[in-house]
Amino acid sequence: MNESLLTLENVEKHFAQSSGFLKPAAEPVRAVNGISLTITEGETTALVGESGCGKSTAAKLITSAITPSAGTITLRTRDGNILDVGSLRGRARKALWRDVQLIFQDPFSSLNPRMTVRQIIAEPLRNFNIAHGKEATDIVADLMDRVGLQPGTMSRYPHAFSGGQRQRIGIARALAVKPRLVVGDEPVSALDVSVAAQILNLFQSLKKDLGLTYLLITHDLSVVRHSADRVAVMYLGNIVEENTTASLFKSPRHPYTQALLSAVPSQDNQDKPRIVLTGEIASARNIPTGCPFHPRCAYATDLCRTTAPTVEALPMGGRVACHTPLEFMP
Ligand SMILES: Nc1ncnc2c1ncn2[C@@H]1O[C@H](COP(=O)(O)OP(=O)(O)O)[C@@H](O)[C@H]1O
Ligand SMILES: [Mg+2]
Repeated sequence: MNESLLTLENVEKHFAQSSGFLKPAAEPVRAVNGISLTITEGETTALVGESGCGKSTAAKLITSAITPSAGTITLRTRDGNILDVGSLRGRARKALWRDVQLIFQDPFSSLNPRMTVRQIIAEPLRNFNIAHGKEATDIVADLMDRVGLQPGTMSRYPHAFSGGQRQRIGIARALAVKPRLVVGDEPVSALDVSVAAQILNLFQSLKKDLGLTYLLITHDLSVVRHSADRVAVMYLGNIVEENTTASLFKSPRHPYTQALLSAVPSQDNQDKPRIVLTGEIASARNIPTGCPFHPRCAYATDLCRTTAPTVEALPMGGRVACHTPLEFMP
């Protein structure tokens, strides 16, 4: 335990923008701009940031749906080898999906409406030649039971289920291959608060029972408070702060983290002044010079306007990319 399962080192993903006839070549969209992150086995790592900061691009890179423009992504395999996720093609890429599974945000569009729940959950069993026929049906029943669905409803179609139930179907499908890492891209964002809480509880109990590792991606810091061990905060394609959940909530060091936290209702920040972010998040098509956050930062100095800070390890643990990190609050 406590070994790294998946590691990103200086990973970039830039998308070329189509430039029209006689138009000059446009700058690429820098969706992910050099992120480093270690996902430790058995832990829940959260990746948090506003819409457009590159979270889904990071999820696609990790699951090898797209390849990085630069940097390396490595997975420690079951037999202890190091797999270069970024360079996988064809069958090798498919093999990765036995280890790494993605759960999507929208439980309505991610399930094929013309397939029964049994067919949906059994599909990966068939694709990976894990089980067929009666054996597959028994596994489907077991998986449905695990995620809190009635196995007796397996011949129904997705439309017969609520949003929360559909997300449970998506989870059962992801678990069918017995993955080691489950990446949830905004897995509860489309759900009502109470249903979202039930799904987060389900993630917790599955993690314990099955020894899973999670990367939980969300724009909402309040989602990760009770479910994540560590939190990485993203801003415009960069990780600006990373720490244990407890330290990050107690003593944010990056002004952006502080601003995100101040929007989360909690006991700790009742007496703290609320920081409202001014200005729109810039676009990944046109990232500000210097620190990407400086146009919205209340503490920005001349240095911040000209020079991008690098991510530095903090003496009290965690990492931050800021020229003037906030004081540590013990
Ligand atoms: N295939 C693509 N081609 C061009 N730009 C893209 C593509 N995918 C994402 N982007 C851009 O990259 C940035 C990050 O997007 P995304 O990773 O979806 O962010 P998030 O999931 O945090 O909302 C956005 O500006 C988005 O418009
Ligand atoms: Mg997204």
